[in-house]
Amino acid sequence: MNRETTLQLSAAPQDVARAVDLVLAGEQVAFPTETVYGLGADATNGAAIAGIYAAKGRPSFNPLIAHVADSAAAARLVQWGDMAQCLADAFWPGPLTLVLPLRSGHPVASLVTAGLPTLAIRVPAHPTARALLAKVERPVAAPSANPSGQISPTTAAHVLEGLNGKIAAVLDDGPCHIGLESTIIGLDPIPTLLRPGGIPTETVEQVLGQPLATPRALSGITAPGQLTSHYAPSAPVTLNQTEPAPGGVLLGFGDTNGIINLSCTGDLGEAAANLFDHLHRLNAMARPIAVAPIPENGLGAAINDRLRRAAADRGDR
Ligand code: TXA
Ligand code: MG
Repeated sequence: MNRETTLQLSAAPQDVARAVDLVLAGEQVAFPTETVYGLGADATNGAAIAGIYAAKGRPSFNPLIAHVADSAAAARLVQWGDMAQCLADAFWPGPLTLVLPLRSGHPVASLVTAGLPTLAIRVPAHPTARALLAKVERPVAAPSANPSGQISPTTAAHVLEGLNGKIAAVLDDGPCHIGLESTIIGLDPIPTLLRPGGIPTETVEQVLGQPLATPRALSGITAPGQLTSHYAPSAPVTLNQTEPAPGGVLLGFGDTNGIINLSCTGDLGEAAANLFDHLHRLNAMARPIAVAPIPENGLGAAINDRLRRAAADRGDR
C-alpha cells in the first residue's frame, strides 16, 4: 500500500487499541517483540497478508510466523503433541518458534505458510506484543519489519528507515532487548533446528534431552538458510577481522576494539542486543565493514549465522 506517511503510535493503551483496530481492518502494523520488530497483519485475512509481502518486497515462497497470545491458541491451529508442550512450557512466552503440521479446519490464510502444510508459530514475551495479541484474538502473522534481505529492525526508527509510507503504523516501545530473531524448531516429526536465534541451541537440547537434527537432512523446507544473503548492509562485510580494511570500519567485540563494539566485556547477550542496531549505524557510514571474531558458543552461533548472511555474496538476493 502506498501512503504518505506511517502513523507513529506509542505503547499507551489507546494507541495499542488503535493498532488493534488497524490489524482487524486488514492493515499492516509494525510492533515490538523481545526479538525484533515484527510487521503484523491478520493471519486469517489473505489480502492483509499480501500487503505484508508487498511492503517488504518479500519473495512469496518464504512463509511467515503466526504470533498468538498463548499455547492454547497455538494448539487450536496446529497438531499439538508432547514435544510441543514441553518446549512451550520451557520457553513460551519467549523467543522460540515451533513449526508444526496445521490442523484441519484452521483459519490461517494459505499465503501465511506459502502453501506449506506446516505453520510456524510463536508466543512472544514482549508486553506490548502480548497486549496487541490478546485484543486481536486472531493469529497475527509477522515477519521482521524490514525490506526483504535487509538488516532486521530493533527500534521503531529502523522500521521507519525501511518501511515509512508503506505500512499503516508502527507501535514504538523502545529497543528490543534480545535483538536476534527467535530460534526456529521444526517438530514434523523429529526436532530440527531450522534457524538459530534468541534461545541457544544447547538450551533447547537440554530441555528436550536429545540433540536437534539439522535441516540438511530434510528436503523442501523453506527457512532463512535457503536465502544465503540476508540481513545485508549495502557495504561489503568481512568477518573474523582484527583490523578495518583501508577506508573501512571495524565492528569490535570484547578486546578487539573497533569504531563501535558489540560488547566491550565480551558478553554475547549484549552483543546480540546490539548487533542489528550497530549494523544499521555502520551501514549509514557507507564504508566497508570488518567484523571482529565472535565465539561460536551460546548466542554466538546465532550472531555468527546472521553475520555470515550479512557477508554473503549478494548474487541470490
Ligand atoms: O523473532 C522472530 O522470529 C521475528 C519476530 C517478529 O517474531 N520474526 C521473524 O520472521 O524473524 P521472519 O519472517 O523474518 O523469519 C521467519 C522465518 C522465515 O524466513 C521462514 O523461512 C521460516 O521462518 N518459516 C516460516 N514458516 C515456516 C514453515 N512452515 N516451515 C519452515 N520454516 C518456516
Ligand atoms: Mg527477517
